[in-house]
Amino acid sequence: MRIGLLTSGGDCPGLNAVIRGAVLRGFAAGDHSFVGFLGGWRGATTGEHVVLDRPRIRGIAKHGGTILGSTRFNPFDNGGIERVRSNFAALGVDALIAIGGEGTLAAAQRLADGGIRIVGVPKTIDNDLNGTDYTFGFDTAVQIATEAMDRLRTTGDSHGRCMVAEVMGRHAGWIALHSGMAAGAHAILIPERRTTMTEITAWITDARARGKAPLVVVAEGFIPDQADDPHSERGLDAFGRPRLGGIGERLAPLIEAATGIETRATTLGHIQRGGTPSAFDRVLATRMGMAATEAVLRGDTGRMISLRGTELTTVPFAEALDELKTVPAERYAEAEVLFG
Ligand code: F6P
Repeated sequence: MRIGLLTSGGDCPGLNAVIRGAVLRGFAAGDHSFVGFLGGWRGATTGEHVVLDRPRIRGIAKHGGTILGSTRFNPFDNGGIERVRSNFAALGVDALIAIGGEGTLAAAQRLADGGIRIVGVPKTIDNDLNGTDYTFGFDTAVQIATEAMDRLRTTGDSHGRCMVAEVMGRHAGWIALHSGMAAGAHAILIPERRTTMTEITAWITDARARGKAPLVVVAEGFIPDQADDPHSERGLDAFGRPRLGGIGERLAPLIEAATGIETRATTLGHIQRGGTPSAFDRVLATRMGMAATEAVLRGDTGRMISLRGTELTTVPFAEALDELKTVPAERYAEAEVLFG
């Protein structure tokens, strides 16, 4: 068979490991070949591609980013299924492995409904896709954020300051919850939990009363007191979603005014998505890539690869798309025991 691959949406550490795993699994299974479409769905609709032979994928599992490039291009605004179909026919592509998040998988489902053979591989550092226990990239993002917070704590301690660390997490606070717990944060603020300034102030002053330099972790999608939406000051992205970021800087002066403690904010931003993937993510991503090729070869298409415990399986796209996997109230309550 000839199998196409694409990486689409925001990038994520581990994308290259998926590509390598998928291709090597195919080479091991028989006389199969692979092409990589460039720039996500853009390549699938314009036909821009590279042949994924052995030299091209050698040694890439440890590299961040994606050798295929990624965009938030929407195939249905740009010729849609007919252009994809005609490019596949011209290149002799029989099936596609689409590696991406919510938007990518939604497009994959529509193309699968239109008769194109597709397997999805779930990807997001936010870990907010349903239908899989974990997405690759999340572990790396948590590791990067935790290391940054450990550093913020030592400088906070030196100056007796309150440090606010802003992490990614548009709809779900998984990165904030895990990195905040790992770093011993005194408060964690996530999109799923409305938290008042009074609660935040109490946690910070409790920590200060014990001689600590308070650390507050806030997810970019946190909705502050008396606001209806997350903080956004940079317009919309290509999918028409508000670009988030800046809530940490907004909270810092409010915290300083409420507590009297000098406060500084740091936004980690895309540092969480860049660089080399953790060993856990390399292994998970490689296994997901291999599982995707196996699914294509046995005709199990129109589905997404899913991690259940330690085993990989496939689930319908709808399982990932019907609702997001947000932080349950009991997981937040568990972390809250450690606040203050
Ligand atoms: O979806 C993953 C994510 O990292 C979100 O947490 C964040 O809001 C968004 O991507 C940022 O995307 P961009 O790369 O377009 O700024």
